[in-house]
Amino acid sequence: MAERMRRIAVIGSTGSIGQQTLDVIAAHPDKLRLVGIAARSRTDRLARQLARFAPPLVSVWDEENARALARTSGRRDILAGPEGLLAVAVDPRVDVLVVASSGSGALIPLVRAICAGKRVALASKELLVMAGELITRLVQEYGTSLVPIDSEHAALFQCLRGVAREEIARLTVTGSGGPLWERSAAQMASVTREEVLTHPKWHMGPKITVDSATLMNKGLELIEARWLFNVELSRLRVVIHPEAAVHAFVECVDGTWLAQMSPCDMRIPIQYALSFPERWPQAVQRLDPTRLGTLRFYEPDLERFPCLRLAQQAAQAGGTACVALNGANDTAVHAYLEGHLAFLEIPRVIAETLDQHTPSAHPTLDEIISVDAWSRRSAEERIHQWAH
Ligand SMILES: NC(=O)c1ccc[n+]([C@@H]2O[C@H](COP(=O)([O-])OP(=O)(O)OC[C@H]3O[C@@H](n4cnc5c(N)ncnc54)[C@H](OP(=O)(O)O)[C@@H]3O)[C@@H](O)[C@H]2O)c1
Repeated sequence: MAERMRRIAVIGSTGSIGQQTLDVIAAHPDKLRLVGIAARSRTDRLARQLARFAPPLVSVWDEENARALARTSGRRDILAGPEGLLAVAVDPRVDVLVVASSGSGALIPLVRAICAGKRVALASKELLVMAGELITRLVQEYGTSLVPIDSEHAALFQCLRGVAREEIARLTVTGSGGPLWERSAAQMASVTREEVLTHPKWHMGPKITVDSATLMNKGLELIEARWLFNVELSRLRVVIHPEAAVHAFVECVDGTWLAQMSPCDMRIPIQYALSFPERWPQAVQRLDPTRLGTLRFYEPDLERFPCLRLAQQAAQAGGTACVALNGANDTAVHAYLEGHLAFLEIPRVIAETLDQHTPSAHPTLDEIISVDAWSRRSAEERIHQWAH
């Protein structure tokens, strides 16, 4: 694959990661070619991407919007719905599938793409939280590779090159603490949506930004790391690091610590996921160690940020507990974004959903899909009851 043009399809091309992925592809016209784009409904952005890249494969999840895009673009081959997404993921013209969508709609296409031997660059951590055991087993079985885009996991992935599994003592993911790290519990009760959505370090989509404010994002990342690197939970740690200069640490058995640092620019891990195992030049701001100042590292506060504790508990319970955690969280965050739920009620929805779930270990894809649907329904009913 090193010599040939890499043909890329991007699920979630209109989102924050998706658009940055297209920028990376545009910066390397000699090495990368965009052959597929897929989104849920934002046809204005898809139309601009069509005009800019003319990819042969285009899919819109929402069928009405797919028809609208076909009308405005004059393209008769716009795919639609779950089948359209699946068709993009497994198309023989695709070498690398970038999965950067929100929600769980890309789970089956991801699984089928791995079974078709596609290399995957994965931003959608939720899919690993739901089905990490299954996905990583299939990656092994079908002899393909899965390279993380999430910055902390991209950091671990890079630090671990050349480190044998038995040489790892502990893996640490860092987190800036998000927009509310400096707030007291009392202040958090009256936080506005605008404050929650203003992340101090990263510009991201709304769902992950809320997850960063509750620290659920770090909980999801622990579970993501558990599967990506096949390391048990007791050897995974979250550390709050407000400067967000170090993205992760690998502690080796001999006491050596390896750290990865880079500017807070997602185009760096995105490009690495596309260039791996090579490293290509990139026009990004450079780090200057003399200007970093003091780097601080703290234990996370599980009292003020109960979502992280809930994620740790679900990770401990394992199996479908993580599916229920993710479904309840996704539902609660969307209800919060739509103004139907208070910020501090997000963990309550998740806790009550988890309380009602009896996890099963080593779930099949069908079980995962069914628990995902159940947890979303259950969380929705709870939110609806509270509103009345
Ligand atoms: N943003 C970051 O810096 C960052 C960093 C690390 C990890 N991640 C992870 O990357 C993923 C995407 O995050 P984001 O911030 O880029 O989100 P975002 O800006 O909200 O974008 C979500 C994308 O997913 C698409 N989408 C949703 N459902 C879909 C479906 N059923 N089929 C096809 N496309 C679908 C959306 O299409 P429409 O535009 O049409 O709705 C949009 O393109 C998340 O899992 C997040 O945790 C993001």
